[in-house]
Amino acid sequence: MAILIILPEKQAEEVRNLLLQKIPDEQIFIWPEIGAAENIEIAVTWNHSHGIFGQFPNLKLIASYGAGVDHIFADPDLPKEIPVSRFVADSLSRQMADYVAGAILAHRLRLVDYREYQAAGHWTPHAPRAGNRVTILGLGELGSRTAEQLTRMDFEVSGWSRSRKSLDNCTCYAGRKELGIAVNDADYVVCLLPLTAETRGILNRNLFNMMKEGAYLINAARGDHLVVDDLLDALYQGRLAGACLDVFEIEPLPGDSPLWRHPRILITPHIASISRSDDMADYILENYQALRGGTPLANLVDSALGY
Ligand code: NAP
Ligand code: GLV
Repeated sequence: MAILIILPEKQAEEVRNLLLQKIPDEQIFIWPEIGAAENIEIAVTWNHSHGIFGQFPNLKLIASYGAGVDHIFADPDLPKEIPVSRFVADSLSRQMADYVAGAILAHRLRLVDYREYQAAGHWTPHAPRAGNRVTILGLGELGSRTAEQLTRMDFEVSGWSRSRKSLDNCTCYAGRKELGIAVNDADYVVCLLPLTAETRGILNRNLFNMMKEGAYLINAARGDHLVVDDLLDALYQGRLAGACLDVFEIEPLPGDSPLWRHPRILITPHIASISRSDDMADYILENYQALRGGTPLANLVDSALGY
């Protein structure tokens, strides 16, 4: 068996070295080096070049380097029969919960405004913003952990998912019909959905019109969830108070994007939750051993649902 890693060089080297400590006799290649194509059984990938998987006749698993798998399913030539897995780790969920809590507190305490006052040498005290209700779109690994953390911080938390969930101290809504009621009294709406045909463009004018006037949007899922022009209109009209965006349709965000210089948008460069190489190596190893032992693979996604 050989493993192929298709990642930027630094992460690829780190993951390979960690794997080699556990399975020193295995062949582990970093793309574009592949060795004998027929030996590759696992491909670990993030934003691979479309069409490349067809050359591996014995490929048994495509493993996403991240929690999201939209970058894999975006390949029109993806071999349909090969299982796809995604990264699930406590470290990933915890970082996301911290990011969302941080974004909410930065807005509530006006920390970004104070940085500007500081630059201008202005002493301008304000009370924290009112508003304690948070709705999380997506109650999976990241959303449910974020809900738990916000609950501990005394926020009133609601969540929305495809199938109905039952979480302590979180009002759970499900399905399109309940999207409006899920968001309509939230002070903060947080997107932690996977990008699929059903969720693409979900952060749009219709949703913003269902939200409470003056609510704040946090998108840490995928750029394609957001209709940028609808957000800019909603901010201009005062429907939304502001937004914190970690993900963008094109990354890095192009220099001429109006998002960069918008006074009520806080931008971070896709860092809400970063895959750690040690946890990544453990996840690859788990599925390597499963393939070896003929036991079930972990963290497989449903290709029909796209997540
Ligand atoms: P997950 O465990 O698969 O959870 C996805 C959640 O979304 C589930 O609750 C699911 O509902 C819900 N959902 C899916 N389709 C839906 C629909 N059509 N309507 C309503 N709810 C829907 O995923 P995760 O691990 O939490 O990750 C979520 C996403 O975060 C990833 O796909 C990725 O895009 C993004 N992400 C971003 C970063 C970053 O650094 N910015 C880092 C990691 C991940 P059910 O529970 O009913 O299935
Ligand atoms: C990051 O965006 C991920 O999907 O893990």
